[in-house]
Amino acid sequence: MSNNLLTVAYIAASALFILSLGGLSNQESARKGNVYGIIGMLIAFVATALGPAVTGNGYSLLGAVILPGAIIGASVASRVAMTSMPELVAILHSFVGLAAVLVGIANYLQPDSSLVGIEETIHKIEIYVGVFIGAITFTGSIIAFGKLRAIISSKPLMLPARHLLNLAMLGGCVWLGIQFMGAAHLNGLQPLLIMTAIACILGIHLVMAIGGADMPVVISMLNSYSGWAAAAAGFMLSNDLLIITGALVGSSGAILSYIMCKAMNRSFISVILGGFGEGAGKPKVQGSTEPMGEATPTTIEETVEILCSARSVIIVPGYGMAVAQAQHSVSEITQILRDRNTEVRFGIHPVAGRLPGHMNVLLAEAKVPYDIVLEMDEINEDFPKTDVVLVIGANDTVNPSALEDPSSPIAGMPVLEVWKAKDVVVMKRSMASGYAGVENPLFYKENTKMLFGDARKNIDAILGHLAELKKDAPARQLVASSR
Ligand code: TAP
Repeated sequence: MSNNLLTVAYIAASALFILSLGGLSNQESARKGNVYGIIGMLIAFVATALGPAVTGNGYSLLGAVILPGAIIGASVASRVAMTSMPELVAILHSFVGLAAVLVGIANYLQPDSSLVGIEETIHKIEIYVGVFIGAITFTGSIIAFGKLRAIISSKPLMLPARHLLNLAMLGGCVWLGIQFMGAAHLNGLQPLLIMTAIACILGIHLVMAIGGADMPVVISMLNSYSGWAAAAAGFMLSNDLLIITGALVGSSGAILSYIMCKAMNRSFISVILGGFGEGAGKPKVQGSTEPMGEATPTTIEETVEILCSARSVIIVPGYGMAVAQAQHSVSEITQILRDRNTEVRFGIHPVAGRLPGHMNVLLAEAKVPYDIVLEMDEINEDFPKTDVVLVIGANDTVNPSALEDPSSPIAGMPVLEVWKAKDVVVMKRSMASGYAGVENPLFYKENTKMLFGDARKNIDAILGHLAELKKDAPARQLVASSR
């Protein structure tokens, strides 16, 4: 493939990636956005493989790594549960980071003799910065994977003088950078490798210091880092498409992190530096605290009764609904209630579940109409006017202590103010805390009833009762009209 054709293919792929991002910003166009992305990636891949950079032996090498990679990737991605998606994303970010490190070191070991003077200096800066970002992304993503998988405790690691430690590591990397830039031939390898080791430790430390409830921001932040690492690799390889794609991922990840920080009332800088709210109190370990009062358990029958007598219902789904895969039955319940002229809407917290847009994807998959799925800001004011709130497997996102208890680790985070409704039914299996490990006073409020058990089993049972009532309704109407 000629260089001109390659450039055209790269421009087409870049345009498709931009269209893809545009499509993904809206649920209705998300599918189209995905298709654009897939086509863009196919064009990019084929054009690069057929481009002038790959010759003779290169094809067998490409085949030998891409084929097994594609098979492993496809089989892992097709089998991953929706609830484990953030873990997959985190581990994939680590690969991008590692790739940037390896490309950088390989580039340094095989210098391009055509680069001299300022061009050589710029190329060395690209290598150094690329390896630095790549190493932080690599280890940071592995720690994020471990935390999401619960292999590593989600509690923030608070080393004494940790900010000073980070600063010292950063300073060390800058000093090594000066040595690297000043070294002739391959003499800069030693500072480059030492910096890589320090950046790896920095990546571990930065993410270890971030606590449970702030993890969503970490994931999108690492997403952003992986984009910048890819862009840096693009500079090293003089590959325009990689630079554009990396910049798109990097900037969209940064914007997403900012939006999530705003949604959680967190300062971006304090989340990145870790340990937010550590002075405000530590996350409590599940079950280690005194009960906050007495919770009122309820039954399927009572829940059905409450739902049937309500004129307005708001359903608040959370991680538990995703685990139980209850979204399809929830959708059917919604339909039945709407057929009875009950106003049913959904309230979605920006960090409900385990990845951005988790609940929206599940509800869209279950064919819940988009217009009744509202974001937290759109629905929060309506809770006082609502008869019943059905909380399905949500916990941190409906925790009043975020607003009422300044010593809570999640203090200041906006939450769905479900307790302001007339009645609240919380569906979960036990009194256990949510992801952030914080006790939830909602469960002990006077207007809250706890429907214990697996969300899917309970939702199916409620659906069964409602379907029975629906079947009986025409018969009852007939009897009533004959009287
Ligand atoms: P959580 O606070 O994690 O609470 C989920 C609740 O679901 C748990 O308390 C659990 O209680 C219940 N549950 C689990 N399996 C269930 C099942 N089969 N049936 C019924 N209930 C079940 O969820 P949330 O309100 O959605 O909040 C999300 C949390 O995750 C936030 O702290 C957020 O910061 C964090 N997080 C979010 C993301 C993103 S990007 N969204 C990423 C990482 C972390 P039982 O065990 O008693 O059943």
